Amino acid sequence: MTGQKRGKIWGLGMGPGDPELITVKALNLLRAADVVAYPAPSDGDSLVRSIAAPYLTGGQEEFVMATPMVPAERFSARSVYDWAAEELHTRAKAGKNIVVLCEGDPFFYGSFMYLFARLAGRVPVEVVPGVSSLMAGTAELGLPLAARNDVVAVVPGPMEEGAMEAAIKSAQAAVVVKVGRHLPKVRRVIERLGLGPHARYIERATLAEQRIFALADIPGESAPYFSLVFVHNGGAVKDL
Ligand SMILES: C[S@@+](CC[C@H](N)C(=O)[O-])C[C@H]1O[C@@H](n2cnc3c(N)ncnc32)[C@H](O)[C@@H]1O
Repeated sequence: MTGQKRGKIWGLGMGPGDPELITVKALNLLRAADVVAYPAPSDGDSLVRSIAAPYLTGGQEEFVMATPMVPAERFSARSVYDWAAEELHTRAKAGKNIVVLCEGDPFFYGSFMYLFARLAGRVPVEVVPGVSSLMAGTAELGLPLAARNDVVAVVPGPMEEGAMEAAIKSAQAAVVVKVGRHLPKVRRVIERLGLGPHARYIERATLAEQRIFALADIPGESAPYFSLVFVHNGGAVKDL
């Protein structure tokens, strides 16, 4: 009796934006896949598809997961993941090899974890780590992130202001992700802690549109979705 061919699903870390920052493993899997799945905002282009674009073969099925990004639509985002997981499950059971493109690293605030939670144990699922925006940001800023016994805090922009302040204060280095419309709050907190001169901002790291500013010089009251603020509070990187 011949065994039925079983497909597999990979969550592929695709790095922060520069198509040269994907791993050899991700590239090989991407080129060999039958199905290339990726999230796209409901109202715009998919950054992660543009990272993969130079490597797509043209003969692959593209499966687009249009995902609402705003908190008020989180319920409908969950139903998108329910639907997408079932669609991918059907294809894997039919023997297709599927890659799910993930911006940066799949398990670092990545939406792939919602698919992983719905699929692991039902079909083979593997995660291929990627270069996360944190690593890209520290490199592009030319600003070492942490040394020796430094603690690094990763601080989501939507956090409540007091909790954000406590998190930044608790570490020698902090990185604020998902800055967006939370920029005024991020600025307030960092300035209140007296750390303004030690904070740097980067948007669209490693892309041609990348921009870098000191905290005080960031134009406007809101930042793009793909932006980060790095702030140091002493720490061993000041003494290298
Ligand atoms: C949903 S999280 C995904 C993080 C991603 N999985 C990673 O490993 O970097 C999205 C946040 O990551 C940050 N981000 C991702 N890519 C970025 C880039 N190229 N430049 C600056 N920030 C980026 C932004 O703070 C953005 O709001």
